Amino acid sequence: FGRNIHYYEQLGSTQTKAHELARQGAEEGTLVIAEQQTEGRGRMGRKWHSPKGKGIWTSMILKPRIPLQFAPQLTLLIAVALCRAIRQVTSLPAGIKWPNDLLIDGKKISGILSESIAEDEKPLYVIVGVGISANLGEDDYSEELKAIATSLQIESGHVVDRTELLCRFLEELETLYELFHSQGFGPIKLLWEALSVSLNRKVRNQSTQGLVEGIAISLDDSGALIVQLEDGSLTKWYSGTIQFIP
Ligand code: BTN
Repeated sequence: FGRNIHYYEQLGSTQTKAHELARQGAEEGTLVIAEQQTEGRGRMGRKWHSPKGKGIWTSMILKPRIPLQFAPQLTLLIAVALCRAIRQVTSLPAGIKWPNDLLIDGKKISGILSESIAEDEKPLYVIVGVGISANLGEDDYSEELKAIATSLQIESGHVVDRTELLCRFLEELETLYELFHSQGFGPIKLLWEALSVSLNRKVRNQSTQGLVEGIAISLDDSGALIVQLEDGSLTKWYSGTIQFIP
């Protein structure tokens, strides 16, 4: 990964550029990096704050050899790779909030946006967008964002070497990606669970059946979150954004 890098001072979104390159036949592992995004996208139609030179705003092209239903597992794998890289480079206690947000002390430092383009139930390619709020300062956040987000610099008290962090992440990713293809999701699931801050917590999710609350128990083999409801029954959440309830 990362042998082929398309670097820009400014883009609307690295996701859009990566989709364009993939359509033109760019090879697996191709990376798009921008110093600044003017239309950074988050999950569920949200915006992603991407100020100039302060973060790692990147999208990569993957061509996994898996059926489409396993695509969510791939996103969990990416969260594990990212969490391990952040811990190694900064020594900060980053943890994963299901499915793939990275938090430090309850505040978000990184998000992953995974978009699959498929044909006949097989992903042709997956565009994985990763945003890491590396060196944003207090002044880079609105009051609203400050309450829910932080940066590696704010948490560690010093500037983080973005190149070192990106390289570490790509190395971790390559190792886990190979493991995933050779041994399946089992080993990744164990790593994810060990880094999770979601398990054994009271959580809430807006689902098609309305607002559902329960206790997050574990992941199932597909990457869904197993949740125990108040009546003791178990349910599975396949997507969404959870909130922790005190
Ligand atoms: C989320 O947590 O909602 C996902 C955020 C993903 C942000 C990254 S930054 C690089 C890439 N380009 C985008 O427009 N979004 C992703």
